[in-house]
Amino acid sequence: MSTIQLCTPIPGPRSQALMKRRNAAVAQGAYHATPVFVARAEGAVVEDVDGNRLIDFAGGIGCLNTGHRAPAVVEAVRRQLDRFLHTSFNVLPYESYVAVCERLNSIVPGKGPKKTVLVNTGAEAVENAIKIARRYTKRPAIVCFEDAFHGRTYMTMALTSKTHPYKAGFEPFPGDVYRIPYAYCYRCSYSMQYPSCDVHCARHLEDTFKRTVAAESVAAIVVEPVLGEGGFVVPPAEFFPLLGEICRRHGILLIADEIQTGFARTGAMFACERLGLEPDLITMAKSLTGGLPMAAVTGRAEIMDAPGVGQLGGTFAGNPAACEAALAVLDMIEREGLCARADVLGERFRQRAAKWQARWELVGEVRGLGAMQALELVRSKETRQPADEETKQVSQYCYEHGLVTITAGSYSNVIRLLMPLVLTDAQMDEALDVLEAALGHVAEKKGALAAQRG
Ligand SMILES: Cc1ncc(COP(=O)(O)O)c(C=O)c1O
Repeated sequence: MSTIQLCTPIPGPRSQALMKRRNAAVAQGAYHATPVFVARAEGAVVEDVDGNRLIDFAGGIGCLNTGHRAPAVVEAVRRQLDRFLHTSFNVLPYESYVAVCERLNSIVPGKGPKKTVLVNTGAEAVENAIKIARRYTKRPAIVCFEDAFHGRTYMTMALTSKTHPYKAGFEPFPGDVYRIPYAYCYRCSYSMQYPSCDVHCARHLEDTFKRTVAAESVAAIVVEPVLGEGGFVVPPAEFFPLLGEICRRHGILLIADEIQTGFARTGAMFACERLGLEPDLITMAKSLTGGLPMAAVTGRAEIMDAPGVGQLGGTFAGNPAACEAALAVLDMIEREGLCARADVLGERFRQRAAKWQARWELVGEVRGLGAMQALELVRSKETRQPADEETKQVSQYCYEHGLVTITAGSYSNVIRLLMPLVLTDAQMDEALDVLEAALGHVAEKKGALAAQRG
C-alpha cells in the first residue's frame, strides 16, 4: 500500500478554515511554505487535519534527520517531563546539559580539548560564535559569504546574503562584516570555470585583505560547509583546505556553521569531515534534538573560555527536555547507521535526477552531499536563467500530490531534499515519483507555452 493517502484536495477544508484564522491572527511575516495544517507525524510521514497522509521531504527545515517522533527521543523527553521542566542552567545546573557538552566535545572534528555552550536557536549559536571569536582574538571584523544564510537576528542578518525576504527594510545592520563570493561553480561570481580557475574564490581572500579589510583586523570567517538556504552548493575539494591555510597564516578563526549540514545529513556526523574543513568553532542546531529548540557552539577549549563568567548563556539555554532529546538523537544516529543511510538515499535520488536532467531543459544542475541533495531549475541550460516561478509550481504540485518539499537558493530556483533519514526505500521511491511527475508537469507545460508562442 502506498504511504501517500489523499482523501481531500490539498489543502482540505479544515486546513483552509485554519488558514483563514491564521491570516487573521498571525503576522504575515511568519511565512509558511505549504497551506497544509498538520495533525500528527511519525517517521517521514505527516497526517494533516483533513486526514491526508503526506511524505515529508522538508523535515521541519532539516531538523528531523532522525524522523518525526523517533521513539527513543520521545521516551527520553517523556522521562524528563516527569522529573523537571526548567530550572535554568544558570541557576540550578543539571547533568544532561553537561552530558550533551561532553558528547559534542568528543564528536566535533578538530584536535585538542574542546568545550561547548548550549543556546536555543541556530541564529543564537552563530551570534555566540561571533562573540567568542571577537573576545578571543580581540579583533572586530567578520568575513562571510555570498549566498550564505545564518539567521534572522541582527548580526546573523548582516552575515546572511539574500536580500529578499531576509534583509530588505531591516537596515542598518551591524558593521565590520565583509562578504566574499562562495565557491558556487554553477554561478561563479568571477565567471571562471573549475578546475582551470585554480579555486580563485579562495585565493582571492588575500586580495580582500589588501583592498577591503586588513587580515589583522579579522576575528573570524564564518562559512557553511554546504550552502543551506543558498541552494545546497558543495565547494570543490581544494576550497576548504585552502581557506583553512589562509586563516591559520593570519591568525583568523574559522567558524563552520553546521546548523543545516550537521548530524548525518551529508553522510557524516558533520560535513566538515567530508570536505577537509578544520574549524576552530562549530555552530549546531536543527537535527541535534529531533524537533526541540536547542543549539550549540563547540570549539577549542582555550577559545571557548575566552568570554568570562556570565558572558554566555540565557534563561532557557540548554532546556532539560531538549538535552535528553539530544542525547537520544546522538545515540540513534550511531545505532541506526544514519550517516551511511544518508549516502544511500542521496545516491538513490541522484540516479533518478540524472535522468531528469538529461530529459528536461528545466533541470539545470543536480548537486549535493549525502542526503543533502538539490535540483537547480533554469529556464534554459544555456543561459542558466533562474526558473523561480517554475520552482514554485513544482513545489505546489508536490504538496498537492502528497509530497512536502521546500525551495532554496538566492534566486529561489532550487528544490532541496531534507527528508528524515529513517524513511524507507519504498517511501523514497514513492516521493521521487511525485517529484518526477511535478517536474514533468511543469517542464511540459512550459514547453507547450513556448510552442504556442512560437
Ligand atoms: C546554516 C544555517 N545557519 C543558521 C540558521 C538559523 O537557524 P535558526 O532558524 O534556528 O535561528 C539556519 C536556519 O535555517 C541555517 O540553515
